[in-house]
Order: sequence, then C-alpha cells, then structure tokens
Amino acid sequence: MCGIVGYVGTSKSIEVLLGGLRRLEYRGYDSAGIAVIDENGDLQTRKRAGKLATLLGDLESNPLANGATGIGHTRWATHGGPTDGNAHPHLGDDGKLALIHNGIIENFSELKQELLSDGYVFDSETDTEVAAKLLGREYGRTKSLEQAFRNTVQRLEGAFTLLAVHRDEPGLVVGARRNSPLVIGLGDGENFLGSDVAAFVEFTRRAVAIGQDQMVAIRPDSVTVTDFLGAPVQADEFEVAWDASASEKGGWSSFMAKEITEGPDAVANTIRGRIVDGLVQLPDLDGIGDAALAGITRIVIVACGTASYSGILGKYAIESWSRVPVEVELAHEFRYREPVLDSTTLVISISQSGETMDTRMAVQYASEHGARVLSICNTQGATIPRESEAVIYTHAGPEVAVASTKAFLAQVAALYLFGLHLARVRGTLSDQVIAENCAELVAIPEKLTRVLESTDSIAQLAGWMADTRAVLFLGRHVGYPVALEGALKLKELAYIHAEGFAAGELKHGPIALIEPGQPVFVIVPSPIGQPELHKKVISNIKEIEARGARVLAIAEAGDAFVPPLADVVLPIPLAAPFFEPLLAVAPLQIFAMELATAKGLDVDQPRNLAKSVTVE
Ligand code: M6R
Repeated sequence: MCGIVGYVGTSKSIEVLLGGLRRLEYRGYDSAGIAVIDENGDLQTRKRAGKLATLLGDLESNPLANGATGIGHTRWATHGGPTDGNAHPHLGDDGKLALIHNGIIENFSELKQELLSDGYVFDSETDTEVAAKLLGREYGRTKSLEQAFRNTVQRLEGAFTLLAVHRDEPGLVVGARRNSPLVIGLGDGENFLGSDVAAFVEFTRRAVAIGQDQMVAIRPDSVTVTDFLGAPVQADEFEVAWDASASEKGGWSSFMAKEITEGPDAVANTIRGRIVDGLVQLPDLDGIGDAALAGITRIVIVACGTASYSGILGKYAIESWSRVPVEVELAHEFRYREPVLDSTTLVISISQSGETMDTRMAVQYASEHGARVLSICNTQGATIPRESEAVIYTHAGPEVAVASTKAFLAQVAALYLFGLHLARVRGTLSDQVIAENCAELVAIPEKLTRVLESTDSIAQLAGWMADTRAVLFLGRHVGYPVALEGALKLKELAYIHAEGFAAGELKHGPIALIEPGQPVFVIVPSPIGQPELHKKVISNIKEIEARGARVLAIAEAGDAFVPPLADVVLPIPLAAPFFEPLLAVAPLQIFAMELATAKGLDVDQPRNLAKSVTVE
C-alpha cells in the first residue's frame, strides 16, 4: 500500500525521493507527491493524482528548487478518492510543515472535530490531514519538531507510519510507526527512511528496522530512535541481502515475467545451506528448538491469498511426514472466531512481505493466547518476523510485481524443509526417506528451468483465449491448491472470473457450470506417483469432456492417458507427488500473465490491488 520515503543529506533530495518512489511503485498506489525544504529554506510540495509519471511530467514542466531534506509518498486511497487534493504530503495550518502517512488513523473524526472547533480549516477528505494540522498546532506550542511529533503520535489511534519535515528545522526528518512498516537506511553524511528497503537500496544496504510504537529522527550525521515517550531504544542494524539491480526490471517486459523466471533461483536459494548430508538443518529455528517441536500437538498455518495456498501444500506435506495435525486458516478469519490455542499449538504464519496486517494480527493473537509462533517470510526486517519467536526466511529476492510468483515457490520449499525437519525430530520418517525427499527438492530448480524453457504454447493458448469470460481450475490433493492459485492469478491479472475447485467436489455442484466450450484447467497427478488419484482425475476429465468442456491439462510428460482426452496438454517433468506443484504452478502463472498482456493490461500493477496489504 502507500509507499514512504524520507531523505536528509546532500542537495539532491528530489532525485532520491523520486528514485525511492519509483522503487516503491510496486506496492500499488493511485497518487504521488513530495515535499522538499529547498536551498532557499522554503518548504515546497508537489502532488498529483495518478501514476508517478504524472508527477514527474509536472515536475519537468515546472521544476522545484532542490534541497537537502525531503519526504515522498505514493498513496493508496482509503479516506477520500485519489485526487490531487487528497494526495500527500499534507500541510500544517501555516504551511510550514509537511506530513505523509501510511495506514488509517482510526480516531480521526474526533480529532478533526476538535480541530474544527479550534477554527482549523481542512483542504482534503483524508485522515492524514488531521495529523498534519495536529502537528502544526503542537509545533506552535513546543517550537520543536521532535517534541511536537511525539505529542502528536501519542494522540493517534490505528495504524500509521508518519514522516514529517518543518521549514524551520531543515536537515531533520522525523518518523514514527505503529502497525505499519518503517525502515531506516544508514548512509555516509546522509540518511534515509522508507516503507521498505527498496526505497533506499540504491544508496545503501545498511538498514535498521524500527519497532512498534517507535519514533525516529534522522539528520545527515545522526539517527535517533526512541519510544513514543522519548526514551532511547536500541535498534539493530542489518545488511540488505540484495542489491538495487535485483529490484530492477532489467530487459524484461514486466517484473512478473522476470520473477517467474527467477523461480528456480528462489527455490535453490531457499534450500541452500539448509540441506546437509541429506538432512535438513534449520538453525533459524533456534527460538523453537527440538524439545518444543517434539511437544507440539497441532499446527495452525495462517496466511492470506497466495501465501495461504502454499500453506495448504505445507499442511498436506507436514501432516504426511510428521503426523502432526495441521490446519490452514485465512489470517483475517483467525482471531475473530476465538480459536483454541495453547502452548502445544504451533502457529506458522506465511507472508512474502512480512507486513500483511491480517497475518500480523493473527500472529499477535496467537502470541497473546499462548501459542508458539514461527514465521515464514521473504523480507528482512519486516514486522511479522520481528514479532515471531522464530523465522525461516525464504530467499526469493525482492518480489516487485503485485502477483506473487517466485515467493510462492520459496514458501513451499521452506514449508517442506520444516516438515522434513519436524519428521526427523519426531522420528516419523527415516533418515533415508528424508534424504530422498531432500533430493526431490534439490532437483526442482533444474526441472522448473525446463518447464520455463518451453512456454511458447502457453503464450499461444493465452492469445487465443483473450475473450474468455470464465475459466475453471480443477485439482486433487496437492493439485487442489495449485488450482486455487491458478484461479487467483487469472482473477487478479486478467480480471476474468476464475474458480479453483477440488476435482472431487465437481459432482457436488460446480459441474453445473460446465457448458460447451467452457475452458477448464485440470492439474493431473502423476500416473506413477499417485496411480489411484490419477484414475480419479481422468474420470473427472471424462465427466467434463462429455459435457463439452475445453480441457487444458497440466500433466506429467509421457502420461499417455491425457492427450486423447485434452484439447491442450502442458507437460511437466516427473517429480514425486509433493513436489509436482512446484512445477505445475509455473504454466498457470505464465498463462495468467500472457492473457493479461493479450488484453493490454498492466501485469505488474493490476487495478485496485496493492503488493503489501498493510490495513485490515
Ligand atoms: O505479503 P503476503 O505474502 O502476506 O501477501 C499475501 C497476499 O496478499 C498475496 O499473496 C496476494 O494474494 C497476491 N496478490 C497474490 O498474487
């Protein structure tokens, strides 16, 4: 959602802010703006509804004087539509301070009422402007940006990352966070703030994550972190594991195209160093050691969207290997139904961004109710891993396209590593079986590379189907979450109605949807790995084929049963059953991307969506 960048240092703040906003574009937004204290000591702002390009065009035709202090923002509208007036920054009453905000200030109506009765006038419909006016009033009282900011954030409820600058204190940017991310970038004679490290990774890889209810003041040569009352806080520095080029599109037509091809590396990097002599090593789990794992009685996986589908694959594998019961729950449903939790329950959260508010709230609920909490996350320094007892980082590299692709593969790899580790701790699999499964995982990057090398037929298929209005996806066992993921990709990218079903459910209702010409993707299990299930899925294909469906099958290369029944077969290499999804999902990701492209849509930033959903 909203992207935030702050800078203090040399007189190039406009370039730094715009570069940061460009790198944060992936979060999803509908307006953009900057505020700069220029070389004449004036506070200047410029903000425009629409894409960053609109703001850039505006700045090109009517440039601002540069300066050494500034803040920049991309807004994803919540309170008030995406207009120039509602875009950030917002100003204090006297126009001397500018403020930007990510999140939702829940008590903004009361605060606005208070300010209105004090005679304040508002120019926008946003909750943010309330914070700006409040800060202006506090500045009038304290004449200190840090103190005024502290007084202001203490009055706010809800979720917020706020940054502010004041004309009378050039060389200072203040920031605060509650329930919304903020990271510091440490430079040499310059410092940065960002909603995530992408905001400043072009300039520095030294970063510090700011904790819940903390405030920061950056100056060119200093960084101070305190709590909301002003008490100093020890903040830990970390090095960003990737460089700026990793979040560049390179020569690719889209970030999504690039990230799909990075799938094999995402898996390889996630398992690298974690399989030693055929056994899984997870030193990352230190916070939840073998004794704790031996004592758990159940696992609850919480996640949203694509991450929840990786969770279903995790459930099937972990239960099968370790015999510990596993439930998967959408994180936003979890805490509102008062789930039963105790210290023998292990809650595993899965999140690419590590900032998804729904997942974070589920993690908080689980901790507060005595469960052990492990997170699987792709983003260093993010909030969810910081609030968990232990974390297994996936190493997929930055995922910029809104649609999750390589992160899904890395999540599944991490869940499988965990499942095999748990099986060893609990003695449910022999070392030899664990080693065989590890070998399957190690073989995935090469097999997936082969899948990605022969995608012409998928592009062609998508081209033919550009006018399709609805697509169904069927799978059984581990093919079921793949079907769900295929449907989600198509919905979010190509805006086509798509549904994923467990194939066994067909006869219980969905088969009524089948009419002549209806395209149905079927994920077919291996006839060698799952012969019984294979037969069942072949029967399902016959049922829909008999009713005129166009069958688009993803099947193992060499499966002789499928070609006579299917209109199109997309082959994948042979793999053991649990590992097939890591191969079968790629054609569906590519199909959705190609279909969206054929429809002329923006595949990296689909409408209405944000990469990181930081509000509930
Ligand atoms: O950052 P997270 O993994 O927590 O995000 C969860 C979902 O919002 C995310 O997977 C979403 O469903 C994607 N847009 C799917 O492509």
